[in-house]
Amino acid sequence: MQERLVLQSDYQEKGEPIPIVAGVHAIIKSLKTTINAKDLTYKHLKATSIGECKDLEREWFPPWKPEDSYYLKSLDRKSYFTICCYWKPKEEKEEEYVIGNIIVKVDKNNKAMNYFCNNKFDPNQKEEEQVVNAKNNFGKTIAYICSIGVIDEARRLGIGTKLVESANEYAAKNYRNCVGVSLHVISTGKRAIGLYERCKFTKLFTEPKYYNMSGKRIDAFCYAKSFDKPYIDNNLIVEFLVNFLLKKVKMIVRKLGELIKAVFYIKKAIEVS
Ligand SMILES: CC(C)(COP(=O)(O)OP(=O)(O)OC[C@H]1O[C@@H](n2cnc3c(N)ncnc32)[C@H](O)[C@@H]1OP(=O)(O)O)[C@@H](O)C(=O)NCCC(=O)NCCS
Repeated sequence: MQERLVLQSDYQEKGEPIPIVAGVHAIIKSLKTTINAKDLTYKHLKATSIGECKDLEREWFPPWKPEDSYYLKSLDRKSYFTICCYWKPKEEKEEEYVIGNIIVKVDKNNKAMNYFCNNKFDPNQKEEEQVVNAKNNFGKTIAYICSIGVIDEARRLGIGTKLVESANEYAAKNYRNCVGVSLHVISTGKRAIGLYERCKFTKLFTEPKYYNMSGKRIDAFCYAKSFDKPYIDNNLIVEFLVNFLLKKVKMIVRKLGELIKAVFYIKKAIEVS
């Protein structure tokens, strides 16, 4: 297996070579080309790109064995979505290659829930307690960035920033109860930390020994960012509609009662006369 000459992963001890597994590196080399912003598109993961994404993930996060599951779950975009940066070299007519991606999960069970509901975070509380203790969390969900990566040859072109921005925009627009985005980042991941701070994420807390790097435990930082959109609570809307309908039904019943009474009196009056 070839060894990488370019950069190191933030998830690897300094000096350790990272095996090249993704085919796109050879394509870049054989075309003797560089990545150009105008040849890039940002779109949802295609089922046919899952293999490419897994190979890239093996390079970006070497200790982990990538799984199919969250890519497969991303395809219907119910609880996960994956946005990829596709590169279509001008030298090729049809082919496009994944050179970066961001995988996002959207749900309620998020450690940062209390922060989004009450603007505070208690690092001493357990995850389940954070969710339970988060008052005003009526149906709220949070987008959680599971992973983000860009190939070495295309770094420092703004692709990482664009992936984060696209994911935030998609989550805010398409998951009606989604109030913000959170993530864990390895405390040694300077580039990723720089990226999130540039994207105006707030550092909430440090989670000691969160990552297991081949037996060595490393701290994580939890970052979060609220979406700037009004939150519409479905429960309150349903409650309002039910009350409104009940009032109308009561009014109709009352009117019907009055009508029946009137008919009864008219009938009686006719009988008497
Ligand atoms: C973290 C990572 C995704 C960033 O991707 P990226 O595409 O290089 O990110 P950006 O280009 O948006 O920003 C990176 C830097 O390039 C700079 N930059 C952005 N556009 C630029 C441009 N057109 N010209 C020059 N520099 C530019 C940014 O200001 C930033 O500078 P900084 O490093 O001094 O903060 C990438 O380094 C990576 O894949 N790392 C390995 C995997 C990883 O650690 N993932 C994080 C998991 S939480």
